[in-house]
Amino acid sequence: MSLRTIESKDLAYFKSILDAKNVLTDEENLYKYSHDETEDISVIPGVALKPESKEEVALILKYCNKEGIPVTPSGARTGLSGGAIPLKGGVNLSMERFNKILKIDAKNYQVTVEPGVIVEELQNTLKAEGLFYPPDPASKGSCFIGGNLSENSGGPKAVKYGVTNEYVLNLEVVLPNGEIIWTGANVLKNATGYNLTQLIVGSEGTLGVITKAVLKLLPHPTQDLLVLVPFRSAVQACEAVAAIFNAGIVPSGMEFMERDAILYTLDFMGDSTISVPEDIEAHLLIEVDGNNKDVLFGEIEKIMGVLDQFDTDEVLFAEDQSQKDKLWSIRRKVGEAVKAQSIYKEEDTVVPRFELPELLKTVKSIGKEFGFQSVCYGHAGDGNLHINILKGEMTDKQWNDDLGKAIRKLFEKVVALGGTISGEHGIGLVQKSYMDIPFGKVELDLMKGIKGVFDPNGILNPDKVLK
Ligand code: LAC
Ligand code: ZN
Repeated sequence: MSLRTIESKDLAYFKSILDAKNVLTDEENLYKYSHDETEDISVIPGVALKPESKEEVALILKYCNKEGIPVTPSGARTGLSGGAIPLKGGVNLSMERFNKILKIDAKNYQVTVEPGVIVEELQNTLKAEGLFYPPDPASKGSCFIGGNLSENSGGPKAVKYGVTNEYVLNLEVVLPNGEIIWTGANVLKNATGYNLTQLIVGSEGTLGVITKAVLKLLPHPTQDLLVLVPFRSAVQACEAVAAIFNAGIVPSGMEFMERDAILYTLDFMGDSTISVPEDIEAHLLIEVDGNNKDVLFGEIEKIMGVLDQFDTDEVLFAEDQSQKDKLWSIRRKVGEAVKAQSIYKEEDTVVPRFELPELLKTVKSIGKEFGFQSVCYGHAGDGNLHINILKGEMTDKQWNDDLGKAIRKLFEKVVALGGTISGEHGIGLVQKSYMDIPFGKVELDLMKGIKGVFDPNGILNPDKVLK
C-alpha cells in the first residue's frame, strides 16, 4: 500500500479520539518527536499523538491502517539505532502516558507494567519490596520499559542476569489493524505454540504496539563489590575478561572503557577526582553481587589472582555506596560524553567473549586504514563492544564516502569471528543496510514474511530493520 501524509481530516479524526492537547502539530513538539538519541538524524512527523489507553491506540492504528498513514511508535526516544524516528512522516505515536506500574505480584515474582514506565523508577519501586528487575541500560534513568522491550535492551547487569527478553512473560499488543492480543501467559514455562512474546521483543515497533507487559522478577541481591582496574594494554584488558570467567567467576558487571572513553567522560562530568596515568590504555569496571560479603570478597580475591598475569596498575576498590555510584555514573555517561566530542557514528558489535581482543585489534586496524579515531567501551563480559567512530579531522568527503565501507569491513570481520552487528541497540534505521552481512536471502525473506503477516499494509514503523 502506498503511504500518505497527514491531512486536516486526519487531525479532525484524531481529535475525536484524544483531547486536543494530545494531538500535537506545533513546530517545537514536532521537532521533539522527530528524533531519538541516534547521531544527528531528525525527520519531522505530520503529527505526534499521545494516547493513554489500548482502545485509543487501537482506534488510531485501525484508522491509519485503512488510510495508509505511517505510524512510528516511540517511548522516551533514547534509542541509538533510529527506531523511533518517524522516517516516513505520518504519526509519531508516543507511549509516554502509559506510565503506570499496574500490579506487583510479589508472591509470584512478577510485575505488570505499562510501556511508558521509566526503567530505573520501576527498579527502585521493586527494590523497596526486595524485588529485582535486572536489565539496566546506560539510559535507565530516562528510558522506558517499552523501548527496552522493543530493542531487547541489555546493560551492564546482562553479563550475569541476561537481557530484557529473559524477563518477559506476556505482552498485550495492539496490531496494525487495531486488534488487541496477549502473546503468552503469566507463567515461567510455556511450550504452547509459536512464541509470539519473543517475536515481539526486539521487533523495534515494526509488528505491533506494546500496551502492557508482564515481567519476571528475582529476589534482589543484598551485597555487591566494585573495582576499577587500569590496564597498560587495552588488548590485555580484553584478554583478562575471558580469563576471569574461565576461573569460574560470573561477575554482575564487567565493563570495558578505553582511555579516551574515561578521559572524555571525566572531562564531560567536570570530575577531577580520578586520575588516569599516562601509560594506561583501558580500564575494566568489575562488579560481583550476591548475599554474602565474605563470598564476594573471595571472588574479588580470585579475580585479583587472575589479574596477576596481566600488566595492571593500582586497582581502585569502591569503598562505599557513593564511590560505587560515582564509578557507575562515569561508565553510564561514556556514550553521551563521546557524542559531545565530535560528529560520530556508534556501532554495537558483539562477538563470543574470547574473541574480544581480536575485535578490538580489528577496530584499530580498520581505523588506521580509513583514517578514523575510535573510542571503544561497553559490556566486555558479553563480548559486546560499543565502537564510537569520531569524525574528528576527517573531511566531509572521507566521512561520507568511506565510512560505510569501513563499517561494512568491520561488520564482516565481526560476523567472521562468530558475532553479529548489534548486541543491544537494535538495527532500526541506521544499521538496516548491513543486514545482508549477518543474514542471507532466506533468513531475510522469512523476516519480511513475518512483517507482512503482522502489518500487510506496511504502516507500522516503515522501512526499519529491513530494507
Ligand atoms: C552504553 C549504551 C550506549 O552501554 O549502550 O553506554
Ligand atoms: Zn551498552
